[in-house]
This record gives sequence, C-alpha cells and structure tokens, in this order.
Amino acid sequence: MGRAPLAAVVGAGHTRFGALAEGPRSLLRQAIDQAVASVDRGLDRAAIDAVYLSTLGFSGWQLGNSSAIAAEEAGRPGLPAVRVENACASGGFALRLAVDAVASGHRDLALVVGLEKMTDVTNARRRYWLGVSGDTEWERLAGLTFAGVYGLMAARYEHEYGPLRDALSEVAVKNHANGALNPNAHFRQPITRDQARAGPPVAAPLGLYDCCPVSDGAAALLVVRPELAHRFTDTPVLVVGSGAGSDYLAVQDRASLIRLDATRTAAEEAFRRAPVGRKDLDLVEVHDCFTIAELLALEDLALAPRGQAGPLTLSGATRLGGRLPVNPDGGLKAKGHPIGATGVSQVYEVFLQLRGHAGARQVGGAEHALTHNVGGSGATAAVHLFSRG
Ligand code: COA
Repeated sequence: MGRAPLAAVVGAGHTRFGALAEGPRSLLRQAIDQAVASVDRGLDRAAIDAVYLSTLGFSGWQLGNSSAIAAEEAGRPGLPAVRVENACASGGFALRLAVDAVASGHRDLALVVGLEKMTDVTNARRRYWLGVSGDTEWERLAGLTFAGVYGLMAARYEHEYGPLRDALSEVAVKNHANGALNPNAHFRQPITRDQARAGPPVAAPLGLYDCCPVSDGAAALLVVRPELAHRFTDTPVLVVGSGAGSDYLAVQDRASLIRLDATRTAAEEAFRRAPVGRKDLDLVEVHDCFTIAELLALEDLALAPRGQAGPLTLSGATRLGGRLPVNPDGGLKAKGHPIGATGVSQVYEVFLQLRGHAGARQVGGAEHALTHNVGGSGATAAVHLFSRG
C-alpha cells in the first residue's frame, strides 16, 4: 500500500539559464515573483512560513548567511530562512527539507529557491570554487576537476562494457534537441552526432559536448501541506516519494567507479512506500552534469539493466516521444547547470509537464515523474517522485 502524498507543489518559477547580466538578488526576485504569480488562485505572501535557499555561494559573492537575502527578495524579511548546501544536489535537498517540514505539519507553506551566479568570475577562481565540493586532500589539491572525475568514470565504464562514444554523443544530441524547445535553456541549438563526437577534448574520453556548461540562473517552488493544496489550485503536483543518500566524498573510497550508491540509496527510499513504481513513470529528470552521468543515473535508478543504458539511449527510448523521455527540458547538458538552481529547476519542469503546460516539449498525458539530483561526483543524491494531483 502506498502512503498518502507528503506535500504538494502549487507554484513554480524559473529565470533564463545562461550567461546573464542580472545579479543574484535580481535572479532570486524573478524566480520567486514568477512562482507566486503562477499560483492559480493567487497567493498572499503572508502565508509563506519558511524559506529554503539552495546555493553553493554564488561563486563566493555571498558565501555565508545568504538565506536572509532569499527572505528579503520574497518580500518577507524576518521569516525563518536556511541555506542548504550539498553542492550540485543542494536543490534536491532543499526540497527534501521543505517536504519534511510540511509533511510533519510543522510548516504550512515553504518557499524553496535555488540560485547560482557562475559566469562573472575568472576560470581559475571558478575551478577552485567548484572544486571545494570534491575531496580536498586527494582530488582538488591534486588538480582533479569534476570533468576529470567523470572522465575516469566513463573510462572505467568503457573498460567494463565496451565503447561508449555513440551513446555519450546520443545523450548530448537528445538533450540539445530538447533544450532547443525550452525558452529558458542556456543552449537552444540542436547538434548532430558528428558535432558531438568532434567536440574538443576536455577530460578523456569526454569532450566539450559531454559537459554541462557554466551557467547563471534561479528557480523557485511553493511547497504546501497536501491537504491545503486545493486552496491554491485544482491541479497541484503531489510529492509522493522522497529519498536521499550519501557516499564517501573521495571517489577512490567508493565501492565502484561506475555506480553511484548515493543514488541507489535515495531511489530505494523514494520508491519504498510510494504509490508509484518505476513502470508508472512518464518522464524523468536525471542529473546529467556529464553525458556519462545520465547513463549511470538510468542504471542506478534501475531504469536500465547494468551495462544497458547505452543501448537503451541509442534505441531512442529516452527521447521525447520515446518510451521514457529523459530530461525533456534539455537537462544540465543543454538547459545549463547553475549549481544551486539545478535541483529546483528539475522540479519546475515536472510542475509544467504534469500540469500539461510544457508547450513544444510536452510529454503527452504525463501523470508521474521522477527527479534525480547529485552532489559533486556522487557524495550526495536526492530522488523525488511526483504525481498529478
Ligand atoms: N557544451 C557545449 N558548448 C559549450 C559548452 C558546453 N558545455 N561550454 C562552452 N561551450 C561553447 C561556448 O558557447 C562557446 O561557443 P562560441 O565560441 O560559439 O561562443 C565555446 O564553447 C567556448 O566557450 P568557453 O566558455 O570559452 O568554454 P571553456 O573552454 O571555458 O569551458 C568547459 C568549457 C566544458 C570546460 C566548461 O563549460 C565546464 O567547465 N563545464 C563543466 C562545469 C562543471 O564542472 N560543473 C559542475 C559539474 S559537477
């Protein structure tokens, strides 16, 4: 027997992702204002009783205590606010805290907002700032970047299961095609498999088109106790499962280079008592910071057998119109990856899709969806399940 919904999402907002002129406060305000405006029956901001800000610290612009800014820009200075930082999984964990708060009845209506401003620092400073989410002793100080870690994972995967080039390129082609349909995406140009294959090398075997870009942007959600949802809308999006996990921070301490146990733990918890199973899913948003990460995610979430995510992807099953569309918004690869905003942005896409508002990239009749958000190279992960209310 599946349990009752944990929470409901009744509003969502999203800025453009890309190299943006706006500063952090302006991006926060845009995303929050849009989320409030999206509530079908309107929202009095006085009803918001908690704020969760997900960010890695806007490239160092405001490393500490930034949650207060989110309350200010929501027009509710004084609210209890907290910053959530689990690297690239900050958004998924901020949602989880909000879900826990309303599911327990402790809070009625939480604002979750994710933000990053990544493009206005030098490459060297950004490498340092991003690197702090990897292991310092063995990875960061030795010069290993995230592209480097995922390159090692891809190389190991090829060692175990054979050549991957076509499958990696197909992930890039699919996600760029989806991004072309998303007005908020960083990249809106479709690419061919030949282009993807010919991208300049970044960290073997990964090239430019295997990497997410460096992006600015923000996204926001309004999360309420499920029994309150119909005060705000006839079509809430219900959170029906929430799971999270962690793993050793340093990759060499982990059981495997080609399995993210944090994802497996998170998925197991999310599905354990949910009224939704894997076969019910109509779309999934997975954490494709690098193309290999999308393939690993499909296997760790048990949506593809081990070693079979490549053939599944090459079959077209994960494209829009396929059996299980993956990253219909373009994913991190093409939509962009403003670290703290990403996990929130994934839920924004689910909010549009399950309400039938996703325009040219709408998955017909979508009722159930999953989001998967990973921190760094897999030290943390959050998985959520959603159903149309
Ligand atoms: N995919 C496709 N095209 C990309 C791209 C990407 N990821 N990143 C940049 N480009 C394009 C730019 O639009 C630009 O095109 P143009 O010349 O037509 O304008 C060109 O490539 C050069 O852009 P630039 O910003 O100078 O690239 P770069 O070499 O400095 O950076 C990467 C490229 C891949 C190294 C960088 O995007 C990166 O580090 N990505 C990973 C970020 C990351 O690690 N995030 C955390 C994940 S856990």
